Amino acid sequence: MLDACVFTIFGATGHLSRTKLLPALYRLDKAGRLPEATVILGLGRRDWDNSQWRAEVSKWLEERLGGSLDQEALDHFNQRLHFFSANIGDPDSSMRLRQLLDSGPEFPPNHVYYLSLPPSEYKAAADFLALSGLNQEQGGWRRLVVEKPFGYHLEDAQILDRHLHRNFTEQQIFRIDHYLGKETVQNIFVFRFANLMWEPLWNRNLIDHVQITHSEMAGIEDRADYYETAGALRDMIQSHLMQMLALVAMEPPATMDAESIRDEKVKVLKSIRPIPKAAVHAHAFRAQYTRGRVEGQDVPGYLDEEQVDKQSTTETYAALKLYIDNWRWRNVPFYLRTGKRLAKNSSLIAIRFKHPPQQLFRETQIAAVPPNWLLMGIQPEQCIRIEVQVREPGIGMRARTTQLDASTCYQAGYQLDAYESLLLDVIAGDHAQFLRSDEVEWAWRVVDPIIRTWSVEREFIHTYPAGSWGPEEADRIFEREDQQWRHSFSASDAPR
Ligand code: BG6
Repeated sequence: MLDACVFTIFGATGHLSRTKLLPALYRLDKAGRLPEATVILGLGRRDWDNSQWRAEVSKWLEERLGGSLDQEALDHFNQRLHFFSANIGDPDSSMRLRQLLDSGPEFPPNHVYYLSLPPSEYKAAADFLALSGLNQEQGGWRRLVVEKPFGYHLEDAQILDRHLHRNFTEQQIFRIDHYLGKETVQNIFVFRFANLMWEPLWNRNLIDHVQITHSEMAGIEDRADYYETAGALRDMIQSHLMQMLALVAMEPPATMDAESIRDEKVKVLKSIRPIPKAAVHAHAFRAQYTRGRVEGQDVPGYLDEEQVDKQSTTETYAALKLYIDNWRWRNVPFYLRTGKRLAKNSSLIAIRFKHPPQQLFRETQIAAVPPNWLLMGIQPEQCIRIEVQVREPGIGMRARTTQLDASTCYQAGYQLDAYESLLLDVIAGDHAQFLRSDEVEWAWRVVDPIIRTWSVEREFIHTYPAGSWGPEEADRIFEREDQQWRHSFSASDAPR
């Protein structure tokens, strides 16, 4: 049974709030998953009252959910919505917020404060809450949700962490990475640890390498402000892709509680071989999109996007090779890549096994039979497939690739999306799918040498036309020529 709470969104009119948080809260409400007395309080600078806020939210939900928006559910959701106009730099606003939240039974005593703000404003928001004692657990709980990127680099993240801990305990802080709420990402636990058969295969003896890709056809949308300071490495790799790496590589946790899971993830991140400055170019690659065609439409290059500096060397594509120096993974490369304005929307974990020791069914003298792959689709397809070789029917003894499908409920009825699942966890006080402070710090340690190198190399960046799979030069990070990017589930797309 969940406690009713006031769910306050800082930055309520921003991109994340409009496109992810409010739709998730609406869907939870529609499905009857929010406690009845829950209040959703939008906090922003605009001078809106509740009715203006409700009208705007209805418009955003309409844009986002279109035909699936249900008028009765929307009316119900609207009743939960309140707006509070505030400037987080203003002490008086903090006092007024306190008065509002203390003003009567309409506002439950438990509070979620969701910082849907640029990272540069997290400290100010935490101070704003502490100023009027809204961080203190009197009569109910207080939880602070912080989005990624958590800081801009290692030192900044450490400073931010110390700052937040002045007013909030670690138990009160929920560092969200919405990839941990995705169906297939959560399935990694079950698939790995509920099946004994994987364990003997899941290591350096049988796995050739691991690829984790997140590709998007979209550009930076209306987020130039944020993206110019972030870039693909901070935006996707330091957080989402590094988390997926940790889940693929971690040891089984002692139990499924938050600390046991996070202990194991930290061990993986700590074991990632540091990239020396001199080796950054061999391990990391960055590029930027130029104009091109996506889904039949001409789209501008990054430098022509609104509010982007014409000299910008912010990367919209990044690829990385990492090694995990432990008993299970030593010398198995983990390739991570992400990009905006690529050929397809796809998030895929692709694990390539080694070739059998003898090629009995060689197709030609030089072409080996393809190796086995384990493919975990995060989106758009949510499924797990295992690629194996079977006999090609007919004459002779030739191998043909087929896929075994381990998908479960993905075509079935109502599924929680990532934010729905994680917002419920926040309300339930469950940290298992949220990042602990040391976890974030170790992830920064991995990318920090790259950030430092790229931040001083500002003269040149590789480019790729929008709508492509990124520059071919990115292949230079592969260890061997027979390693190539796996773009999708399609067997014909599988490199040898
Ligand atoms: C966000 C990034 O964290 O994740 C975005 O800031 C990216 O740039 C998004 O587009 C991808 O998330 P999803 O759930 O749409 O795959």
